[in-house]
Amino acid sequence: MKIITTIEDLQNIRKNLNKSIGFVPTMGALHSGHISLIKKAKLNNDITIVSLFINPTQFLAHEDLSAYPKDDLRDINICEQYKVDYVFMPTKEIMYQSTDEVLIKAPKLSSYILEGATRPGHFDGVLQIVLKLFNLIRPTNAYFGKKDAQQLSLISKMVKNLFLAINIIECEIIREEDGLALSSRNIYLSKEQRKNALTLSQSLNNAKKLILQNENNTKTIVNAMKNILKDQDIEYLSIVDREFNEISKIQKNNTIILLVVRFGNTRLLDNLWV
Ligand code: PAF
Repeated sequence: MKIITTIEDLQNIRKNLNKSIGFVPTMGALHSGHISLIKKAKLNNDITIVSLFINPTQFLAHEDLSAYPKDDLRDINICEQYKVDYVFMPTKEIMYQSTDEVLIKAPKLSSYILEGATRPGHFDGVLQIVLKLFNLIRPTNAYFGKKDAQQLSLISKMVKNLFLAINIIECEIIREEDGLALSSRNIYLSKEQRKNALTLSQSLNNAKKLILQNENNTKTIVNAMKNILKDQDIEYLSIVDREFNEISKIQKNNTIILLVVRFGNTRLLDNLWV
């Protein structure tokens, strides 16, 4: 495995790679969710590249960027263990050359609702860095988890709108045995909060059960979920189509149930794709 830290090295290496490239962009703090993306990339491509970069532009002014978990050595070891070919680990100064750069604007409607309503401007930063990474790495396939459903949808939209020749591969949510969706934020949960956090997957499982029993009224499903989440601090619970429009009836293969619950300062996301 080779670690690349400069744009020049990356471009030189990339020039000579005439094979299929699977790319897994990350902000480090790798967990089994990321590992599942790496495994998928390895399986379906000749070369696998992982980026480890905590992207400052996707954090809002009041969000504590320096508190984001970072352990490069651990992440590198994980990549080595799963036989990643290249790890790209740039610095902020390398990725952002000036404070007056050309900017990418996330779509006005779909990026300022849900996650974007709580974190306005967050998706501008996500798209900015993902486009930079795509331009440098020019992957055949890029792998993203369904847990960040809105991010995945906006990246797919960017690829489509900007005519990028990259396949975006949607990957299933990976969960702990008890149902908690894996997230780099789970380490911030106290024992009590960790226990309460199970209500997220429980409420989504209940929604799944209701849908299997042919319940298709989204209000009924939301109410049943809220009942399970009654003691929790719900930030949003929304049932949308894949374009992120609110819907009143479940549409098979075109529905996402999105949920964010706060535990102290920790926001946990979970969702169900129907
Ligand atoms: O999902 C993430 O970890 C980040 O938003 C991404 C896609 C690596 C961009 O910084």
